[in-house]
Amino acid sequence: MTRTCLITGGAGFIGCEVSKLIEDDFSSIIIMDSMHPQIHKSPEKPAALSLKANLYVSDITDPSAWDELLSKWKPDVVLHLAAETGTGQSLTESTRHASVNVVGTTQMLDAFVRNEIMPQKIVLASSRAVYGEGNWMNQDDSIYYPGQRTNEQLAREEWDFVESSFLPMRSASTLSMPTSIYGATKLTQENILTCWCNSFDVNYSILRFQNVYGPGQSLINSYTGIVSLFVRMAKQNESIPLYEDGLMIRDFVYISDVASAIREAMINPDANKKILDVGSGYGATIKEIAELIAIRYGAPQPFVCKKYRNGDVRHAQADISDTLATLNWTPEVTLNEGMNNLCDWIDLQLG
Ligand SMILES: NC(=O)c1ccc[n+]([C@@H]2O[C@H](COP(=O)([O-])OP(=O)(O)OC[C@H]3O[C@@H](n4cnc5c(N)ncnc54)[C@H](O)[C@@H]3O)[C@@H](O)[C@H]2O)c1
Repeated sequence: MTRTCLITGGAGFIGCEVSKLIEDDFSSIIIMDSMHPQIHKSPEKPAALSLKANLYVSDITDPSAWDELLSKWKPDVVLHLAAETGTGQSLTESTRHASVNVVGTTQMLDAFVRNEIMPQKIVLASSRAVYGEGNWMNQDDSIYYPGQRTNEQLAREEWDFVESSFLPMRSASTLSMPTSIYGATKLTQENILTCWCNSFDVNYSILRFQNVYGPGQSLINSYTGIVSLFVRMAKQNESIPLYEDGLMIRDFVYISDVASAIREAMINPDANKKILDVGSGYGATIKEIAELIAIRYGAPQPFVCKKYRNGDVRHAQADISDTLATLNWTPEVTLNEGMNNLCDWIDLQLG
């Protein structure tokens, strides 16, 4: 077996987990990661990364870094994870998000052409952020797209869309209408990759992740990872503030379940040319998550602070039926089990 897997952004949360899971599938695992200081305390190879992985500390937007890497390695499979991921931050630092997520992707694809290296397969980590508020159902069962909540609506504390109910997101039937710059860049990444792969007959799979959580998630990045933020507050005996009314739904999917979905997408031809939703399929309210954490640490009850963030969506939950039917995969870790594992891990890290 002489197969090479290249993982961009592979030193991050998801990349480290995947690198260990695919150790026996590839003879070489190459990581291209800038070791972004917002995520990594140091540019050293993270302990969580597979021992087999070769780390190249370089930026995906830099064409010369690509040429250097591709002069040494010919990747058979590429997992494209490198991204700027701060949803809120992307509104005020849109150029940085666009240059890494959009131009970083085009630099990668141009480098493959320039170096005459065509991978057999590219798997892209996309996001539920591409859906924005997604699709909702009126009382007469008709489906509509409410679009982005206005500032006036939010200032009036009208969190939900009136007289309608949210429907889980499914790539085959839910239109993509992002409400954040981050979501817009992820959708652009999808579109660029699809055109390029179809033109060059390269297989691809696009996976739209819901909220990924678990041991290994960055504890220093204050722009992502609501669960680790809640844990830190509860550990300091603070009451967790709940934005809006705390009843926003999120689909928390455990890191090992995400890694196994990625591995399946890499090796299973049924995933070729598909866009698949990766979540637990279960929707939990933010209040439910905060209460679980507060109880664990004996912290005071969470409280509704009614703050809100532009670009945040009201509800997000995946319809994973197509993913279950396509991949030899099913999410295995329950929310309780996963939260306990994450809290145990954070306790170890923070003492
Ligand atoms: N974690 C989630 O909940 C979630 C949800 C939906 C989608 N995603 C997507 O999954 C992918 C991986 O997410 P993650 O949670 O592992 O994030 P992460 O921040 O832990 O990892 C991203 C990695 O990319 C690297 N990186 C950033 N900019 C780079 C650049 N210019 N060049 C090279 N490397 C760069 C960072 O150093 C980091 O190691 C991202 O594309 C993200 O959009 C994640």
